[in-house]
Amino acid sequence: MPIDLQNAATFAVQIAKEAAQILKTGYHTNFSIHSKDGRHDLVTEYDQKVEDFLKQKIKLVYPDHDILAEESSSTPYSKHKPCWVIDPLDGTVNFAHRIPFFSISIALVIEKKVMIGVVLNVMVDETFVAIRNHGAYLNGKKLEHSKTNYLKDTILATGFPYDLILNPNHCIEHFVEILKLGVPIRRMGSAALDLCYVAAGRFDGFWETSLKPWDFSAGWLMIEESKGVISTLEGNSLDPFETSSVVAANPHIYSSLLKQLEVK
Ligand code: IPD
Ligand code: CA
Ligand code: CA
Repeated sequence: MPIDLQNAATFAVQIAKEAAQILKTGYHTNFSIHSKDGRHDLVTEYDQKVEDFLKQKIKLVYPDHDILAEESSSTPYSKHKPCWVIDPLDGTVNFAHRIPFFSISIALVIEKKVMIGVVLNVMVDETFVAIRNHGAYLNGKKLEHSKTNYLKDTILATGFPYDLILNPNHCIEHFVEILKLGVPIRRMGSAALDLCYVAAGRFDGFWETSLKPWDFSAGWLMIEESKGVISTLEGNSLDPFETSSVVAANPHIYSSLLKQLEVK
């Protein structure tokens, strides 16, 4: 039976809001924090708690769907079944340091296309929702990308991988090339929200060198549904199941941003 995307989006918003309550409660407690592979790649007990909560809810309502979630990403899933791609807490470093800027990101991928994206900015109650071919919305208001025409007039956002010190994909040089523009740059700490902010016209563009499917899937659809442009650093299409560089921008500055990011 075909999936009713409107119902699925309503469901995703509902569980994201319930999960947000778990994070809001946890934020003020003395939660445990561990380091994953790198010193700065943190995971708190709340990443796991929220992930378990979301997976349990999805399995109840959509028992035949698969789930790809960050903290259990080694669990097998099929690329040919409807798959929920989840980041239970995007912005863990912020959460761990009590910086109130982090999100929950939920996407539904069907036949390698993101059909639904929900990103909830937990501490400010902003809910971004996108449904393929039905637009992207923030708290019910349609999202529109910015109108900025020239790179020199932009405000841009970026993020860095946890193994930054190894300079993967020349990410330090990419950053230096953008610094040379002299424009305002933000590093907010939640890639899912960075993409939503581009879709909402708050940022003109965003780039990052190696993001995981759970970081970018929901935001990817926000960009597409707000008629922005999104690709890899090479200008190729993203793959919902592969680690990838991501460049997203309004259509006026996208090409010049991509060009500026070329390492000379
Ligand atoms: C991280 C955030 C951050 C980005 C990192 C991601 P996490 O996700 O999205 O903004 O720069 O590359 O790994 O670890 O907080 O879920
Ligand atoms: Ca993430
Ligand atoms: Ca995460």
